[in-house]
Amino acid sequence: MFKGKFLAVCTAFLALVLALPASAVAQATATTAAFSDAEVNAALQAAHAKYKNLAEGKNADYIPALAKVDPNIYGIALVTTDGKVYTTGDIKSEVSIQSISKVFTMAKVMEEQGADAIEKTIGVDPTGMRFNSIVAVEFAQKALGGPEINPLVNPGAITTTSMVAGATRDEIWKNLLGFYSDFAGRPLTVNQEVFKSESDTNQRNQAIGYLMYAYEFIKSDPARATDIYTEQCSVNVNAKDLATMAATLANGGKNPVTGKQIMKAENVPGVLSVMAIAGLYDDSGKWLYHTGLPAKSGVGGGLIAVSPGRFGIAVISPPLDDAGNSVRAQRAIADISNALGGNPYAAKADQSGKSRAE
Ligand code: DON
Repeated sequence: MFKGKFLAVCTAFLALVLALPASAVAQATATTAAFSDAEVNAALQAAHAKYKNLAEGKNADYIPALAKVDPNIYGIALVTTDGKVYTTGDIKSEVSIQSISKVFTMAKVMEEQGADAIEKTIGVDPTGMRFNSIVAVEFAQKALGGPEINPLVNPGAITTTSMVAGATRDEIWKNLLGFYSDFAGRPLTVNQEVFKSESDTNQRNQAIGYLMYAYEFIKSDPARATDIYTEQCSVNVNAKDLATMAATLANGGKNPVTGKQIMKAENVPGVLSVMAIAGLYDDSGKWLYHTGLPAKSGVGGGLIAVSPGRFGIAVISPPLDDAGNSVRAQRAIADISNALGGNPYAAKADQSGKSRAE
């Protein structure tokens, strides 16, 4: 009885596979994690050892509290789309999420207002300028044919935060923090020291908020938007939190560890494409050239990257390069992803043995 059913299921499966076009089979293969535990652990440990003593870069200091963070913190985590978690190094320490938060606020607004909301209100184009450039705001003006900015640089990010739903500041904040926490798979909290330190020194972001209001990108109180944006940047995360958040994007919006669908799968490609063009600011092109991975950095020292259908990866290490991206994190993620075949552009020739010429 059981044997008969088993044979019937096998036959049906075989028939289905034979009926699939070759491209669909290749697609299925490409999105299955094709590495063993030993390979992943070896890649993580090799990258950790290789860059542990790298002394390049320096902590952000324009937010005074960030200058005091231990520059030796160095944690790596990788979460696969089937929910396996791999870690090495300093996985207990937390850093403030900073600009990585912009990705998830963008996702939140797309969930609430539809996929068009960001593209129509802010734009999805690279600025090629620093993350807090005011020149970029001038070029983005609707009067000059905009919107031509994106939600991952400060002007676009503060505008995105101003679009999150909620009747009061408290309601907006709870809405946002709950969404971030669902991505991480645990309740996240705010680093109050960082929040206060940035609130005391964020006059440039306040100016950007007012400019975005003056140019009619922001439709509500710009001071409140900048304040909530500053709080979202102060959320504490460890490497595993960030890797789980990235893996949720790699997995069509479903957290692979908790199994909860956090955002619609149809909104994920838009988020990933803006990460690809602007996730590392004016170094985004260089990063994409070497890794092919949509990614996002934060001045707290975190960096996430997404290999769609395969894994999310994150490194925390505070010293940054001139563009504001963690030095160790960029090198470690590039090495690990390349070792595991994470680059989505690196397709191999079809192995079916058939070609159009035959
Ligand atoms: O608004 C700022 O300047 C910071 N809260 C975030 C900037 C940031 O993380 C840029 N990232 N690399």
